[in-house]
Amino acid sequence: EKGGYDHFMLKEIYEQPKAIRDTYRGRLLREQGLIKMAGVEDNMKKFLNADRILIVACGTSWHAGLVAEYVFESFARVPVEVEYASEFRYRDPIITDKDVLIAISQSGETADTLAAIKLAKSKGAFVFGVCNVVGSSISRETHAGAYTHAGPEIGVASTKAFTTQITVLTLIALRLARAKGTMTSSEYRTHLLELELIPEKVERALESDSTIKEIAAIYKDSPNCLYLGRGYNFPVALEGALKLKEISYIHAEGYPAAEMKHGPIALIDEQMPVVVIATRKGHYEKVVSNIQEIKSRKGKIIGIVFEGDTEVKGLADHVIEIPETEEALSPLLTTIPLQLLSYHIAVMRDCNVDQPRNLAKSVTVE
Ligand code: F6R
Repeated sequence: EKGGYDHFMLKEIYEQPKAIRDTYRGRLLREQGLIKMAGVEDNMKKFLNADRILIVACGTSWHAGLVAEYVFESFARVPVEVEYASEFRYRDPIITDKDVLIAISQSGETADTLAAIKLAKSKGAFVFGVCNVVGSSISRETHAGAYTHAGPEIGVASTKAFTTQITVLTLIALRLARAKGTMTSSEYRTHLLELELIPEKVERALESDSTIKEIAAIYKDSPNCLYLGRGYNFPVALEGALKLKEISYIHAEGYPAAEMKHGPIALIDEQMPVVVIATRKGHYEKVVSNIQEIKSRKGKIIGIVFEGDTEVKGLADHVIEIPETEEALSPLLTTIPLQLLSYHIAVMRDCNVDQPRNLAKSVTVE
C-alpha cells in the first residue's frame, strides 16, 4: 500500500507531480488560454464584487492561504486577509455580505475551520471551500468550492495537500485576474504555461534527494533550525519549519528573511543551521545580504536556489537546486526540498514519520 516506499509521507512527496497534474487537469486549458472551474464560474459575480477575500484555515493549510494572499493580491489586485480559523471565530470578526471567505482544509473536518465557515455564513458572506476529501463536512457546509485532487493523504504531515491547495488557489487567482484585467494577457499566458510545467519541474526537484539526504545526516542532531524566505516564499519558510518540528521534534522557526535582524539573529552561532530560500527573482539581493549576515556570525547556510545560481553557491555551506520558474509559482518547487529534508532527518532520528507523537490526521475538536 506504500507502493514500495518506506513511509506514506515519502510516497506522498513523490506523488506530487501527479497530484498537481490531477488538480489542474480539465481546469487549466492552456491552448485555449482558459481556466475553467465550475465553482468559480458559477459565482463569478460574488468574487468580482467582493471588497476583500478572507482566507481561514489551520496549520499547513493556513500556510497555503498565506501563499494565496500574495498570489491573489498580485494577480487579481484584491485585498486578502488570512487568519487562523481558531482566532477568527472567537474575535467577533467584522464580516458582511460583500465578503468572500475561502476555507482551506485537506480533511474537510477541522473543527475550527468548520466553525469559522458557519460564522461567516451566518453574517451573509459567500463561502468557498478548498478541500481534498470529497464529501467532507467542510465541502458540504460551503456554498461552492474546488477540490484538490491530491488523492488520499495518509501521512499525518501534510505534503501533497499543500502543493495542490496552492495549485487550486493559483488557478482561481489567474481566473480572477483574467476577469478583472489586472494582468496582461502575455503575463497570463506565461503563467498558464509555467503552471503546466510545474509537475515535471517537481520531478526534477525530487532528483536532489541524495544531496538532501547528505545534508540531513550533517544536521540531524541540531537542537534548532531556522528557515528564512521572503515574499511568496515567506510562507514556505513557515511550512518548512512546521514540517521539521512535527516529524523530527527539532525546534524550528520560520521567519521572513528581513525580520531576522529584529531578534532571531541573536540565536545564530556555529551550531545553527539556517535554511534560506533564495530564488533568483524574489528580492534576491536582499536575501543574499541576509545570508552574509548569517555567515559573519558563523551560522550554517542551506540555500534553496534556482538552477544555475552562482552568488549563493559562493556563500552557502550547502545548496539545493530547483528548476527555475515564475516567482509566484516558486512555492510549488521550493517546498519540495524542505519536505525531503525534514523526512530524512526524522528517519535518521528514528521518529515515527507517518504518525508523529501527539498528532492526529484531522483535528475534529477545537
Ligand atoms: C501539518 C498538518 C496540520 C494540518 C492542519 C489542518 O502537516 O497536517 O497542520 O494542516 O491540522 O488540517 P486540514 O487541512 O485537514 O484542515
